[in-house]
Amino acid sequence: MTEATVQYAPPPELARHAHVSGRAAYDQLVARAETDPEGYWGGLARELISWQTPFTQVLDSSQAPFFKWFADGTLNVSYNCLDRNVERGLGAKTALVFEADDGQVTRVSYQELLERTCRIANGLRSLGVKKGDRVVIYISMSIDGVAAMQACARIGAIHSVVFGGFSAQALRDRIADTGASIVITADQQVRGGKQLPLKAIVDEAIGLGGCESVRNVLVARRTGGAVPFQAPRDLWLAELTEGQPSKCEPEWVEAEHPLFLLYTSGSTGKPKGVQHSTGGYLLQAAVTTKWTFDLKDDDVFWCTADIGWVTGHSYIAYGPLALGATEIVFEGVPTYPDAGRFWKMVQDHKVSIFYTAPTAIRSLIKAAEANEAVHPARYDLSSLRILGSVGEPINPAAWEWYHQHVGGGRCPIVDTFWQTETGGHMITPLPGATTLVPGSCTLPFPGIAAAIVDETGNDVPHGHGGILVVKRPWPGMIRTIWGDPERFVKSYYPPELKGFYLAGDGAIRDAQTGYFTITGRIDDVLNVSGHRMGTMEIESALVAKTDLVAEAAVVGRPDDTTGEAVCAFVVLKRPRPHGEEAKQIAKELRDWVAKEIGPIAKPKDIRFGDNLPKTRSGKIMRRLLRSIAKGEAITQDTSTLENPAILEQLAQSN
Ligand code: WT7
Repeated sequence: MTEATVQYAPPPELARHAHVSGRAAYDQLVARAETDPEGYWGGLARELISWQTPFTQVLDSSQAPFFKWFADGTLNVSYNCLDRNVERGLGAKTALVFEADDGQVTRVSYQELLERTCRIANGLRSLGVKKGDRVVIYISMSIDGVAAMQACARIGAIHSVVFGGFSAQALRDRIADTGASIVITADQQVRGGKQLPLKAIVDEAIGLGGCESVRNVLVARRTGGAVPFQAPRDLWLAELTEGQPSKCEPEWVEAEHPLFLLYTSGSTGKPKGVQHSTGGYLLQAAVTTKWTFDLKDDDVFWCTADIGWVTGHSYIAYGPLALGATEIVFEGVPTYPDAGRFWKMVQDHKVSIFYTAPTAIRSLIKAAEANEAVHPARYDLSSLRILGSVGEPINPAAWEWYHQHVGGGRCPIVDTFWQTETGGHMITPLPGATTLVPGSCTLPFPGIAAAIVDETGNDVPHGHGGILVVKRPWPGMIRTIWGDPERFVKSYYPPELKGFYLAGDGAIRDAQTGYFTITGRIDDVLNVSGHRMGTMEIESALVAKTDLVAEAAVVGRPDDTTGEAVCAFVVLKRPRPHGEEAKQIAKELRDWVAKEIGPIAKPKDIRFGDNLPKTRSGKIMRRLLRSIAKGEAITQDTSTLENPAILEQLAQSN
């Protein structure tokens, strides 16, 4: 960082009252966690979580990298998130403020959410769901969605939420991999004024085969639209839960009992089912919600993520509820009915903590610049105290706009780096302690031993780029990949890295401050609008169109709004198309990918070639494709290339 780099010190008033108050307090926590990690995490686990049976051992590394945390303790997540708050006198406090796509608002108190959760939990039990059974949840943002997750946690069932934008094929793969006995869905979902199918896609997914484990499909009524219904397999959620008691004895589970599986993309093969624990995960979600957002009892917290992603797990379904917070659950999209929706909701609900993705910020900047009426300046955003960013790097220009126009220059921005696998924030500012530098996620959360190393696991000096690792285990970490422990070890604990966790990102630390900047994935994983996708997954989808596609290679290229864009190079089983025909086929392939994976994976660019640039041994040279996708001149060595002329052809095929 040069002298000229802008820095923002914590606002003094905010710092004074913060949970972690001042840089010295942060340094002390870091030092304590370093000298006595078990004492540090154990203390937090006792302070923030209610245990049915207290644990006697904090960390068990005997089967590393399959670490166990608080292993002999027992607890229940839904007890911690609901009953406990009611017992503390928060029964009448609003837990969820649900705002529907059309603007209609429903408030649910902690007492009501507890009862709703218990009815669903009892309903699931009545269908024979037991501890350890898997339940797939395919639903949009809703009170039922959050309650369904809590209900699974209450009876020890393992949920796997599948984002409502995923296709039937993607849903099928996840149902089949989990072996779920129950799927919870809704008739339809509503986004941006449009009704979109959910139940029909569940039927289609099950129809694809391999989902024989599914006994029942529970359908919440959202729109009342006509949907296919197949008795006795299908049941209306409301009918199932109506007659159920509003009390339900929680299942006390061991801390290591899996709370949920969440599928995410890797560089190779199929999406992996990231398995999270109960005790360690809940601690990670709770302590990061509390410190990173400096959450207080009277805050109104809004995380705009979907419960289909990990952000919606840790910072909607679990973290804020474990702390007894009031939070917003939003069904719609940021641009409907206009691009002022977020700002209007902040104003209407007096949101004090707002957590969103850079891609949303960037698109709202564009919208505000094009239309003064949706500029944040037109709304009263004075309730805001803290802003957050997640999912991808936030570029300094977007950071400054967010800071100035949304935060009025007074709200710290916490740029939180973490992953589906980490369960909660890993590298992030703490608003009352960390001086901010736009574009940097600053310093590790206390207790997280993040570092930058070379390919052999040796530290690289500050100011030099390298591989981001975490040197010590942490409570919220991934426990394994569901059904594939070998892949877990191979993906995250490669032998050459000395037992450090491999995040899959490159990073660099500032020479003076030691601040981290994430430089992007070092594997074949793309990040498009904060959504993670494997290039191989998209390639597999393309070549699955066997009547048309002979070969495909997918790379990412920088994009102003979405961060990265998907760029596909395709060889057809017919002569290379031109003009209108090429456009037509490109559209057909985009729709195909949307059907195979989901609209978020659609390639933005599709280029056709007679073949792909390959080495003489047949390996596709992706770095060349990345240059072509960016529109760069090829400066790399191409002497090992079998067919150099193809570069020119692909470069001109746009
Ligand atoms: C990948 C993880 C974390 C929840 C949402 C995404 C990128 C995430 C940041 C950030 C720079 C970031 C990384 C990471 N990423 N947050 N603040 N700055 N990059 O979870 O789908 O598991 O993706 O997102 O590349 O590895 P995910």
